[in-house]
Amino acid sequence: NGSISIAIDGPAGAGKSTIAKIVANRLEIDYIDTGAMYRAFTYKLLCKNIDFNDEKTILKELEDTLIDFRENHIYLDGKIVDKQIRDNIINQNVSYIAKIKEIRDGMVRIQRNIAKDKSIVMDGRDIGTVVLPNADYKFFIVASIEERAKRRYKDLLEKGETTITLEQVKEELEKRDTIDSTREIAPLIKAENAIEVDTTNQTIEESVDTILKIIEGR
Ligand code: C5P
Repeated sequence: NGSISIAIDGPAGAGKSTIAKIVANRLEIDYIDTGAMYRAFTYKLLCKNIDFNDEKTILKELEDTLIDFRENHIYLDGKIVDKQIRDNIINQNVSYIAKIKEIRDGMVRIQRNIAKDKSIVMDGRDIGTVVLPNADYKFFIVASIEERAKRRYKDLLEKGETTITLEQVKEELEKRDTIDSTREIAPLIKAENAIEVDTTNQTIEESVDTILKIIEGR
């Protein structure tokens, strides 16, 4: 039908969303940040003080939750939560929520629905493997843990977060990656036919260019 789908997966802090956003912009197609969806739901549970072990209540909450994207904003129950979902408290909790099967089922349903019949760049952990297994292009973005920690640390400092150390950021990234890659359902893993892009020693512009060259067959 002439539409194009691009899946971008990889560990935390490798540059996926920055790169995905620019690629979508250049191709003039939509960008969906699936991590933002898991983050938004985690934010809701934290706000409501819901016990993360109480799956029954969590799933009931999921039924009463509306998550969507409009004009590059993430909406939770009709309210923009772009900023709230980037708090470090969300980083520390989101992977526990993203492990739950029913939650993944719900998110994947929304994601496939968004991607249906239109061109899209979607980034996450399981896009090339589970959400869009037939994507036209699949990329797996990686970078060394040191480099990823440095980038995240810089982001946090710029946001005024001063209570955390570089070493703590590194430990948190590693912990999140371990939970994400070892979970039973839709673990973080490179799809067989995904192209790996290592951004450790690349600028964002260089990584974007690598990807665009492949898509445009240059
Ligand atoms: O991409 P981002 O770092 O914002 O994702 C936050 C978390 O959401 C990940 O660490 C992972 O636990 C979860 N996630 C997921 N599947 C996706 C996207 C994100 O499990 N497709």
